[in-house]
Amino acid sequence: MLTQEENEILVRTGPGTPMGELFRRFWLPVMLSEEIPEPDCPPARLRVMNEDLIGFRDTEGKIGIIDAYCAHRFSPLFFGMNEECGIRCLYHGWKYDVNGQCVDVPFVPEGETFKEKVQLKSYPALERGGFIWTYMGPKELQPPFPDFDFAAIPESHRENWKIICECNWMQSLEGQHDPSHLYFTHGFRDLTEGGPTVQMGMTTGTNLTTVRMPAAFQDTEYGVAWATVWSSDDKEQVVNIGHHLLPVFDASPSYNNPGRGKIPLGYQRMRVPIDDVTCMVLRVRWNPEGPLAEEFREAHNAWLVPEKIPGTYRPVANKANNYLIDREMQRNYNYSGINNFPLQDICQIEQQGGPIMDRTREKLTSQDETNIHIRHQLIRAARDLMEGKEPAAPHRPELFQVKSATIKAPKDKPVEDILKEALKSLVPAA
Ligand code: FES
Ligand SMILES: [Fe+2]
Repeated sequence: MLTQEENEILVRTGPGTPMGELFRRFWLPVMLSEEIPEPDCPPARLRVMNEDLIGFRDTEGKIGIIDAYCAHRFSPLFFGMNEECGIRCLYHGWKYDVNGQCVDVPFVPEGETFKEKVQLKSYPALERGGFIWTYMGPKELQPPFPDFDFAAIPESHRENWKIICECNWMQSLEGQHDPSHLYFTHGFRDLTEGGPTVQMGMTTGTNLTTVRMPAAFQDTEYGVAWATVWSSDDKEQVVNIGHHLLPVFDASPSYNNPGRGKIPLGYQRMRVPIDDVTCMVLRVRWNPEGPLAEEFREAHNAWLVPEKIPGTYRPVANKANNYLIDREMQRNYNYSGINNFPLQDICQIEQQGGPIMDRTREKLTSQDETNIHIRHQLIRAARDLMEGKEPAAPHRPELFQVKSATIKAPKDKPVEDILKEALKSLVPAA
């Protein structure tokens, strides 16, 4: 449970808010590369942390992320023409380059000198790993790009995905770090023929005590680390190490997790606030060793990618139609009645008392411990920043190489010790 003040810190990311300022110290992914696929293609609408922007790729391939509205009389640049190294407003033809600098003010005698004084808000942009990234903080504090594994993975080896959720970003993040929801949200009653094609989670008869909860936590410079006992016998325990990296990142995969199949798959998820009641969830899966096989792409897409409304990143099955829940399926086959893995989550996270969850009234138990740690680290970092203490993590790009891992250890070794020792090798040195 949080105080009202803590919950407000956690959920608000508009300009000038404590969490908004913390987010604005990091490079953040804000679009898929495919949204602006080639030079002079149509611009894409973009809203990030309550700021209306557009993204476009100019004639030379440079990416611009600039104010959504023209400086003259605020017409939407989305309807403008992207040509000859700039975007031209459809209303009276003022034109802007990727840095937001006005480069043409037609029909006006003073235009040639006047244009130099017109500068739209703009943010630096980079394209890495199939995403367009931006940094929205103070220029003098701009950090180097974080060392994510996937940033260097070629297009043929990876798949990028995005969906828009109608809820605060933190609800989406908390859904990810919720170990006990697999049993019901993604769980099955019956795997006989005729049921849904999405099969994941635990079936009826699984003892609830086998749900694996983290047993040890450690607050770190980059966020939070935890250790979960995955299985154990008389002699040995298998322990998974996981992390949350401030503000919205997963750890790099270790590629050695058992049960991941033959392809050593990388997998990372990120969510970025669009505004306080909407967020985008971005995901990348990749094979570090070679192109992703077509069968794999198809199998993966069949159950991990909800159908989207054409021309948008919003699912066809959504809050307005109750995610097309099938009560017959729910009675007979799975607990959700929803035949799509992300939608099973989305139908929960979008409506936790509303799009902004009131964390002053919740009833938390030990099953919520991971999220309790993550919340407190986020709030601490946001408060530190309010008091003038800048976060260190953005300026240590190697920290984004911190890895998850699966470790075998003697049965009687305390999990806290296993975690502490593991972090010595998993967290890159400065
Ligand atoms: S509003 Fe854009 S040129 Fe006038
Ligand atoms: Fe889930």
